[in-house]
Amino acid sequence: MQAIQFSQFGFANLQQVELPEPSAGPGEVLVRIHAAALNYRDRLIIEGSYLPDLALPASPLSDGAGEVVEVGHGVTRWKVGDRVTTHYSSTWIAGRAQARHAAGKLGGPQPGVLRQIIAIDQQALVATPAYLDDVQAATLPIAALTAWNALEQCGASPGQTVLLQGTGGVSLFALQLARLRGARVIITSSDDTKLERARQLGAHDTINYRRTERWSVAVRELTAGIGADVVLEMGGSHTLAQSLASVRHGGNIAVIGFLAGTGNGPDVARALVSTQARLQGISVGHRESFEAMLCAMTLARIKPVVDRCYGMEELAAAFSHMGSAENFGKVVIRL
Ligand SMILES: NC(=O)c1ccc[n+]([C@@H]2O[C@H](COP(=O)([O-])OP(=O)(O)OC[C@H]3O[C@@H](n4cnc5c(N)ncnc54)[C@H](OP(=O)(O)O)[C@@H]3O)[C@@H](O)[C@H]2O)c1
Repeated sequence: MQAIQFSQFGFANLQQVELPEPSAGPGEVLVRIHAAALNYRDRLIIEGSYLPDLALPASPLSDGAGEVVEVGHGVTRWKVGDRVTTHYSSTWIAGRAQARHAAGKLGGPQPGVLRQIIAIDQQALVATPAYLDDVQAATLPIAALTAWNALEQCGASPGQTVLLQGTGGVSLFALQLARLRGARVIITSSDDTKLERARQLGAHDTINYRRTERWSVAVRELTAGIGADVVLEMGGSHTLAQSLASVRHGGNIAVIGFLAGTGNGPDVARALVSTQARLQGISVGHRESFEAMLCAMTLARIKPVVDRCYGMEELAAAFSHMGSAENFGKVVIRL
């Protein structure tokens, strides 16, 4: 059985290795992985800047889709031949987030999915919707569920305005899912071609954040001075000031990413007191939410935007493409 591992941090240390086929322990299934998708956190983990204490060797990537090939003793959720997709926060099944759920994350600290056959707890999987192929399904566990959960937590509802930063994986799912909720979408990007593609996907208004550095002013203009009801914060502390200036009184900001880096942030207290806005931290979502999202996506036949597929041995090239900002949509490894 083939797998990708790294025994030291850094992309130069990625290796394709032959491993014995795992066996399914009690409550576990063996899944033949057909596709695995890349996320920003995977890059940070391989570089060693996130989870620096991760036990090595480690196998990367959290998001995979494939087929059950063996079931262990006591497995009731799956049978051989079922098509399944991994659930990232594997022990968070429902209810409120708990600190202990951090230990159950696939692709660090739990083993990743970039291997031909994985042994995985039966609870850490969802059924793959029949209308999606495995490449499409592999894009869902982190990016789509984060977008879904952020919109849910912020109460995005019909007629409201949702502001999205950049056209990364989370934002593109948020665009599609916000439209599903009947919301108006304003999206920013550094690239006009991507903004045109976002319009084709259903964005109502677009702003080039390179040309329009004070994009919060443009958001106010587009909303008759009111501001966006919901903002998905992707940049982190460097963009938060503009998110606070973009959100309407009593609106919601979902704090998701830190693409623009970490460091000194704005005077949050003052801005929150004057706008009475709410900041909501988001960490992907639980399995029940994942399953609800899959139902909604299936009814609306929402297709993930896949940018490009690579082979297993091309992982470093796939990450380089994802980091180049040339991609529009998810980058996937086909096994
Ligand atoms: N909290 C959570 O649960 C959670 C879950 C998933 C991801 N995240 C985090 O959310 C962020 C986005 O993840 P992703 O998977 O969507 O990443 P991604 O696909 O790698 O996003 C890349 C895109 O982000 C945009 N971007 C980069 N810098 C930006 C900036 N300063 N302002 C606005 N947009 C910017 C660019 O869009 P354009 O090319 O259009 O300019 C770029 O192409 C990351 O920080 C990730 O770690 C958090």
